[in-house]
Amino acid sequence: MRKITLINGDGIGPEITQSVVKIIKASGLEIDWDLQTAGSDVIEKEGTPLPQRVLDSVKKNGVALKAPVTTPIGKGFRSVNVQLRKELNLYSNLRPCKNLSGVKTKFDNVDLVIVRENTQDLYAGIEEQIDENTAHSIKVITRQASEKICKFAFDYAVKNGRSEVCCVTKANIMKLSDGLFLDSYRHVAKDYPNIKTREILVDNLCMQLVQNPEQFDVLVLPNLYGDIVSDLCAGLIGGLGVAQGANIGDNCAVFEPVHGSAPDIKGQNLANPTALLLSAIEMLKYIDEYFYADKIEKALFKTLSDGFKTKDLGGNLTTTEFTDKIIENLP
Ligand code: NAI
Repeated sequence: MRKITLINGDGIGPEITQSVVKIIKASGLEIDWDLQTAGSDVIEKEGTPLPQRVLDSVKKNGVALKAPVTTPIGKGFRSVNVQLRKELNLYSNLRPCKNLSGVKTKFDNVDLVIVRENTQDLYAGIEEQIDENTAHSIKVITRQASEKICKFAFDYAVKNGRSEVCCVTKANIMKLSDGLFLDSYRHVAKDYPNIKTREILVDNLCMQLVQNPEQFDVLVLPNLYGDIVSDLCAGLIGGLGVAQGANIGDNCAVFEPVHGSAPDIKGQNLANPTALLLSAIEMLKYIDEYFYADKIEKALFKTLSDGFKTKDLGGNLTTTEFTDKIIENLP
């Protein structure tokens, strides 16, 4: 039986994890879940929100399904999510963004993929307090990491029949750091003559995305722009409740939704498990369980197309009712 690390997170994490585990089990696929708690709930007992055992488990199993973990704003521990990506060198954050049948939005044909660099940029965690009224945050961009993520984006395009990889920067202003990212993209692009290239500034991209998102295919971005643009794109396809993601490195991968721990709806049986479920479906494909991935995907799409939805999508089902409906629709 395949062993997979399961990080059930906090906030709405445990509720949506329970839903997804139940659906996978009902599909007939047996998984040996290696449950690993992390986040604020374990700090008191273990002194850190990301104990070494969690990292060891992901390294050993090679694959993890992860629900969101709260990051306290301002002082305190570093984000578990950022730390996990860094420690495991999960350098690529992959966020496919596609309209779902049954989820009505302003656009019908959004089908783009965000490839976000996951380890550098302003997320490198290098900050210093200069004096009481001044703080510095260092933006780190290296050629090695930039070429690696651009290569990942082009390889993804080739493997998945995509035709264009567009590089997103603000290289007109940050000429050295974003300039280096752009230069790395241009260098890597030369090896992929069959994939179209395009360069765009992040502010223009945002405007184009809200007016005509159908024009975009694969987008490759440094960390911060990738983070912001992927939430924007989640909005294009129905909101955070349906936006999936994956953090992929050379040796392991962590699949998780784009959204956070949604403390405002915690424990109310209101959370939409779709984003975590779509992430789990991608995870099943990653471990070559295509049969079950397809089965669960069909059940989810039928449920949504039939109009059964959670509150965030304009429906009236609770998390558990929506989960049971998907199970009922398993082919
Ligand atoms: P959030 O994504 O948790 O919530 C934003 C809004 O979307 C809220 O109104 C929430 O109710 C709604 N929402 C999110 N997911 C939903 C779902 N599955 N079903 C229905 N509604 C949903 O963003 P927020 O409030 O900025 O962050 C809360 C915490 O989560 C913070 O501590 C943040 O650092 C953390 N976070 C963790 C992430 C991770 O673990 N990968 C990613 C993003 C944020």
